Amino acid sequence: MISIALLGAGRIGQIHGRTIAASKRAKLAGIADPMPDGANALSAATGAPVRTAEELIADRSIDAVLIATPTDTHADFIDKAAAAGKAVLCEKPVDMSSARIRETLARVEKAGVKLMIGFNRRFDPNFAALQRRLAEGVAGNVELVTILSRDPAPPPVSYIERSGGLYRDMMIHDFDMARFLLGEEPIEVYAVGSALVEPAIGKAGDVDTAAVLMKTASGKICHISNSRRATYGYDQRIEVHGSKGLLSAANVHETTVSFAGVQGFTADPVQNFFLERYAAAYRNEVEAFIDAVVDGKTIAPNGHDGLCAQMLADAATESRETGKPVKVS
Ligand SMILES: NC(=O)c1ccc[n+]([C@@H]2O[C@H](COP(=O)([O-])OP(=O)(O)OC[C@H]3O[C@@H](n4cnc5c(N)ncnc54)[C@H](O)[C@@H]3O)[C@@H](O)[C@H]2O)c1
Repeated sequence: MISIALLGAGRIGQIHGRTIAASKRAKLAGIADPMPDGANALSAATGAPVRTAEELIADRSIDAVLIATPTDTHADFIDKAAAAGKAVLCEKPVDMSSARIRETLARVEKAGVKLMIGFNRRFDPNFAALQRRLAEGVAGNVELVTILSRDPAPPPVSYIERSGGLYRDMMIHDFDMARFLLGEEPIEVYAVGSALVEPAIGKAGDVDTAAVLMKTASGKICHISNSRRATYGYDQRIEVHGSKGLLSAANVHETTVSFAGVQGFTADPVQNFFLERYAAAYRNEVEAFIDAVVDGKTIAPNGHDGLCAQMLADAATESRETGKPVKVS
C-alpha cells in the first residue's frame, strides 16, 4: 500500500485522483490545486483532504506524487518532490525545453527516486497488445510504422499559444509510441505542417495539420499523421508492417452495433476524446506506477523516454520551420 498525493485537479487530475482512490494498493493522501472547485469536488468524491502542494511534498508519510498541473510547472514540481525523496508520476510533457528536462533528470538521478512519465497510450489495452505481439515476433522485423492520431476539434487559441506547438503538445504522444514500437531510436526527422482547420492557429505561429516521417539507423521508417480536427471523433489507429505481416489496431467505437441496409453499412461513432478513449489506459498507467514503487518493478516510460520524445518533437518543429530533414543524436 502506498500513499500518493495529487498535484492539480483539472481535467486529467480528476481522472488520476479517482483512479488512485479506487486502487486497492494505494491511498490518495491529499489533493493540491489553487482553484478550489476541482480540488473540493475530488475531495468530496474520494475523501482525500485538500492541502497545499508544499505541505504534501513536505509530508514524510507520503511516498509518491502524481503531477497533473500545467506543463510549465512540471519540472519544478519534479525537482521538489525528488529532493523530498518521493517517487513521481508526472504528466507529459516533462517540460517544453530539452535542456530543462536534462537538468531535472540529473536531479532525479542524484535523489535516487523513481520517475515515470504519463505516456498513457502505452497502457491502452489495444496498443499494449499490439506491442506485445510485435515483441513476440508475430510480424517479424519491423519495417514501417504508421500512427494516425487526430483530435475531434481544436482547443482554444489561448491554449495553443501556451502549448509549445503541435509537435510538442500533441504529437509528443505519437513520438513516444513510435519509439515504443520501432524498438530503435529515430535518427532523422522530416516534418510538414499547415493551418488548414483554424486560421487563428496559423496566426499564432502553429499548425493544426501535420505529418512527420522518421528513419532509424537500420532504415526502419515511421509515419505520423496528426490533425486537430476529425469530423468522426477521436481517430487513434496504428499499423506496423513487418517482414512476416501486418499488425494493426483500429479505432474504438461507442458500441459494436452496426447497421447494414441497401445503402451500405453504418456503425456508431468512435469514442469522442481522450477521457473516454483512454479511460482504461489511465487506470493501467497508475497501476504500473504502483507496481514499480511497491514491487520494485522497472519504471517505464521513464524520464529518459520523456527526454527522447521531446528531442523528436524539437527536431520536428525545426524541420517544419526550415523545410529540411533534421538529424537527431
Ligand atoms: N496524458 C494525457 O492524455 C493528458 C491529457 C490531458 C492533459 N495532459 C497533461 O496534463 C497536464 C494538465 O492538463 P489538464 O488538461 O488537466 O489541465 P487543466 O488546466 O484542466 O488542469 C490543471 C490544474 O492544475 C491546477 N494548478 C495550476 N497550478 C498549480 C499548482 N502550482 N499547484 C497545484 N495545482 C495547480 C489548475 O488550477 C488546474 O486545475 C498538462 O501538462 C497536459 O499536457 C495529459
